[in-house]
Amino acid sequence: MPKKSANKGAKEGKVLVDPWGSSLIEDYERLIKEFGLEHFDNNEFPEPNLQMRRGINFGGQDLKAISDAIKQKKPHYCLTGIMPSSEKIHLGTETVVQNVKYFQDHGAKTFLLVADLEAQATRGVSLEEGKRRALEFHIPTYVALGLDPKKTIFYLQSENKKVSNLAAVCAQKITENEFRAIYGSVHPAKVMSAFIQVGDILWPQLGEEMPGIIPVGIDQAPHIRMTRDVARRLKGEHKFFLPSAVYNKYTSALDGSFKMSKNEAVGKMELPEENISSLDKKINKALTGGRATMEEQRKKGGIPEKCVVFEYCKNHFIRDDKGLNEMFEGCVSGKNLCGECKAKYGIPYAKKFFEDFNKKFEEAKKNIGKINFLK
Ligand code: TRP
Ligand code: SF4
Repeated sequence: MPKKSANKGAKEGKVLVDPWGSSLIEDYERLIKEFGLEHFDNNEFPEPNLQMRRGINFGGQDLKAISDAIKQKKPHYCLTGIMPSSEKIHLGTETVVQNVKYFQDHGAKTFLLVADLEAQATRGVSLEEGKRRALEFHIPTYVALGLDPKKTIFYLQSENKKVSNLAAVCAQKITENEFRAIYGSVHPAKVMSAFIQVGDILWPQLGEEMPGIIPVGIDQAPHIRMTRDVARRLKGEHKFFLPSAVYNKYTSALDGSFKMSKNEAVGKMELPEENISSLDKKINKALTGGRATMEEQRKKGGIPEKCVVFEYCKNHFIRDDKGLNEMFEGCVSGKNLCGECKAKYGIPYAKKFFEDFNKKFEEAKKNIGKINFLK
């Protein structure tokens, strides 16, 4: 398997990871050290998924509690949430959903929440609009990506009273200075959303104390940290397992920057893709790891670690390891120039990915009335 080692380049100074900001994450090894995380170890997990095998999941916390629960078939849960901050979901979110699917398929009780309170507080998205986006786009997207709607408990933060009640209890457990140290700010909207998120992460344990895995991007690490602090301190009242987490790498934007959707000229990849015929254009404009001249590329090969087309194929479009290896070999050997490589791999695999997805999405949308929605 090609080893991915993009995002190198250590810089001095501390990384401040702000869940509502746009900090660039460039060095995952450093994050592991600074946050005191574990490396993600595929060997611990039965039938590792693509995200595990290809190193997209790079770190976590208390992972053994979950792999043990899977192997010993003990009760555990998996929970994540996504803000309805825009209408559609960007492609990178597929990684989180695939991780949720993995844990669901391996026996976790599964929760997927729509962070409508957080989107209202931090982005000004009304609860009504958040709900519309959830029903029309977000939830059908999760189902189309493979979550089993019969086995997933979906809810909106605003409709889950247990979550907000628990948030109020948890808010007692952290001081202003501690909050500032974790988040770098005590902005009221952030304080509110953060405690609601603690409520989200812990409420499945109100019925039964059990380990839980929270698949998220590394930007969510501050929330996990605060939740673990709170859970430790709640011991007297109700016992909680400290939540486990698995962190995935970011999918870069098409232009190679770390935040999706910044460069409108290049375009963005979202689910669903209504305009499949525009994929050629998007992929042709994407940043590659090609060399300055044709001669140089034939001689030295391209640099897949720097190539967004390769990254998208690896993280999303090419499921079969054989196809991905071929693309990699064709690149590093200089056999394929970027144009040939995109025509052979990037474009056809992307088209297939989105065509399959779109079909499943339409199907899921039709069945939205049957969704198991918690009130
Ligand atoms: N904060 C997350 C986001 O920005 C959404 C979220 C809310 C969440 N509650 C959660 C994520 C609980 C994981 C677990 O999208
Ligand atoms: Fe990327 Fe393909 Fe060019 Fe290699 S040959 S840099 S994988 S587009």
